[in-house]
Amino acid sequence: MKKSQWMASFVLCCMALFSSAQTQAQELVNGQLWMDTDGKHINAHGGNILQYDGTYYWYGENRPDRGFTTEEGVGVYSSADMKTWKNEGIALAVSQERGHDIERGCIMERPKVVYNKKTKKFVMLFHLELKGRGYEAARVAFAQSDSPTGPFRFIRSTRVNAGKWPFDMNKQAQKAAQGTDASKWKDWWTPEWRKEVEKGMYLWRDFEGGQMSRDMTVFIDDDGKAYHITSSQENLTLLVSELTDDFLDFTGKFNMVAPGGQNEAPCMVKHNGTYWLICSGCTGWAPNEARMFSAKNIWGPWKQWPSPFVGKATGYHDMPANKTFGAQGTFIYQKEGKPFFMADIWNDRHLSQSLHLWLPIEFDGNGTPVIKWVDKL
Ligand code: DGJ
Repeated sequence: MKKSQWMASFVLCCMALFSSAQTQAQELVNGQLWMDTDGKHINAHGGNILQYDGTYYWYGENRPDRGFTTEEGVGVYSSADMKTWKNEGIALAVSQERGHDIERGCIMERPKVVYNKKTKKFVMLFHLELKGRGYEAARVAFAQSDSPTGPFRFIRSTRVNAGKWPFDMNKQAQKAAQGTDASKWKDWWTPEWRKEVEKGMYLWRDFEGGQMSRDMTVFIDDDGKAYHITSSQENLTLLVSELTDDFLDFTGKFNMVAPGGQNEAPCMVKHNGTYWLICSGCTGWAPNEARMFSAKNIWGPWKQWPSPFVGKATGYHDMPANKTFGAQGTFIYQKEGKPFFMADIWNDRHLSQSLHLWLPIEFDGNGTPVIKWVDKL
């Protein structure tokens, strides 16, 4: 081969390699499997994205192919461009110790990792269910690490706001809640039952031991304060609770959002001074219509809006907007100053194969979020 021919084939070869790397980097097609750099579908569900020191970290539930208990822990992937993801392994591993809160076989869901500028630590909060107890424990758990990829050290798990009233619940309302008795209500969903829920029947039932906490997110406000937002009271009422400065505990200040509204999968974004909370209804792994709330102050009052999802999904994934395009939200991340809705298209028979759906959030002329399907990111 002549030198010039050799050079030409070398250049062609480089171009092919470059374009295949490009193709790989562009392969995040909504509604399809998303591969990591090892060629495996990204097994990180119900999680969040953290940008730290020029790198994006994606935390999520590492799910087994069969069943729904946690066998490994919370996984973490890293990326420079949000497209090419490297598996960094398990950030918080289950414990092999019998009776440990995060004993292998527990359920760890919806992990959220945030960076605390004061302590310079990475803090993980997640929904924890104790081994063998289904979804009845309903706890939030805390873990901490010096590095974004872990290993995270488990700190503790707890119910939330034990012995505390929502900060704006006056004496009269507290008395009304104290007059309820959850054990009396065998039939749910009657108008009488709903009235009792709105009075704070489950708040009172769990007052001493602490409120339930299942689907959850963490939101960091502009002033650096962190809030835990969770589906509580039998998934009927959302709680917004302030975290301490180190993000490792609750200050005791909290409020209820949409009592009796049955919202889960909370995701929060702040736009031009307004807080937007996008949630799902409660239908297990099956998709449903998203719900949306806004407030000028994180402590409310919150106003409900119609679902922000509009239009149709394209490609083979033809779930309608009124089913959140087949997905359930997990987090709203920011990329280059723009918010994106991050969601899971659950596959309840093979949870590890659940798909990812990331969609840009636009704002209409009134500043209201609108979410449309896009094929690729
Ligand atoms: C819906 C929740 O959003 C998920 O995180 C998970 O807890 C499933 N329910 C379990 O059915």
